[in-house]
Amino acid sequence: MLDLKRQYRPLHQELLDAVGHVLETQQFILGEPVAAFERTAAGQLGVAQTIGCSSGTDALWLALAAAGIGAGDAVVTTPFSFFASVSAILRAGAAPLLADIEPATFNLSPAAVETVLDAPQGKSVRAILPVHLFGQCADWTGFSRLAKERGLKLIEDAAQAWGAECNGLKAGALGDAAAFSFYPTKNLSAAGDAGLVTTNSDDVAERARMLRQHGMRRRYYHDEVGWNARMDGIQGAILGVKLKYIEGWNHARRTAAKRYHALFHAAGLAEAGPYPTHGVVLPHELPGTHHVWHQYVIRTTRRDGLRQFLTERKIGSEIYYPVPLHLQEALKSLGYAEGSFPEAERAAREVLALPIFPELREDEQQTVVSAIAEFLS
Ligand SMILES: Cc1ncc(COP(=O)(O)O)c(C=O)c1O
Repeated sequence: MLDLKRQYRPLHQELLDAVGHVLETQQFILGEPVAAFERTAAGQLGVAQTIGCSSGTDALWLALAAAGIGAGDAVVTTPFSFFASVSAILRAGAAPLLADIEPATFNLSPAAVETVLDAPQGKSVRAILPVHLFGQCADWTGFSRLAKERGLKLIEDAAQAWGAECNGLKAGALGDAAAFSFYPTKNLSAAGDAGLVTTNSDDVAERARMLRQHGMRRRYYHDEVGWNARMDGIQGAILGVKLKYIEGWNHARRTAAKRYHALFHAAGLAEAGPYPTHGVVLPHELPGTHHVWHQYVIRTTRRDGLRQFLTERKIGSEIYYPVPLHLQEALKSLGYAEGSFPEAERAAREVLALPIFPELREDEQQTVVSAIAEFLS
């Protein structure tokens, strides 16, 4: 599914030198390696402020809390994402409200959010939290309009989308604040847990910096109850090295996605969609967006059988996500049920992520598509 060693081998010495420097200087928590990464990251994303932190989950919580979302507020997000998109809202003390997704992109639907906003909630909605799922930006034109009309904040879950763009702006520079994850499987990855908050607001940035250090502006003077959500120096140093290469890696992912498209079309398996019948519906890039293909996710009605078939042939695949968030045991108290979000539920039954990473070879992609053709024929 993903061979991280292929990324590591050519960078081996450069990464060891960067880690060695941290060991020499003993700057293990925050410090210059993290500050240097934050500066370069800000330049690359075209955003004024970046705040390194301990994980994507903590970045989401920090982004929400620093943007002033807390007890008594509601935040609308998607049921088709990683758990943290919802759990971070709860951790910020706010109430998650869910809205269904677009079947063609799996991203939160602005029209579905609008329906939620128009329904009587008994809750004060303060923000929308769209996720740029699988490396493609959510419909920012739609969300910007909604946010403007209704006076809402937009918080991006950009965990899967380093380098993605919408209308010429990078993910992370679109909303009031954004959160990135550098979990090792992400397209920009650390050697452990790490995350980043981005914002164009100096106030939000200042608050996020304070909250990631137990609410301290001055050492041992606590203005608010924050948390320990700091980035390690070693992660900052590693990410600083990888920032030099991420554009090339994203380009290679786009090339691999194009190759899958061509191979599926050549095999006569590609269907128009958004729903599959006998073949596979391929993911696609919407006009105005720049997809970074964190995942290449197909839809098929025979998903579980296909996955089993691929596993027997030692071909990696993954289901993101088998259970939509509103049907998770831990989120029962949100009050949703089977049938609440038909698009998310259908996607959960049909999606299959295929191997995609910058170093994936053409012959390996050919093997994947041939195996799928054999199963479906
Ligand atoms: C969409 C999304 N949001 C949030 C997260 C949380 O990031 P982390 O695992 O770094 O806490 C992840 C990654 O796991 C993710 O994919």
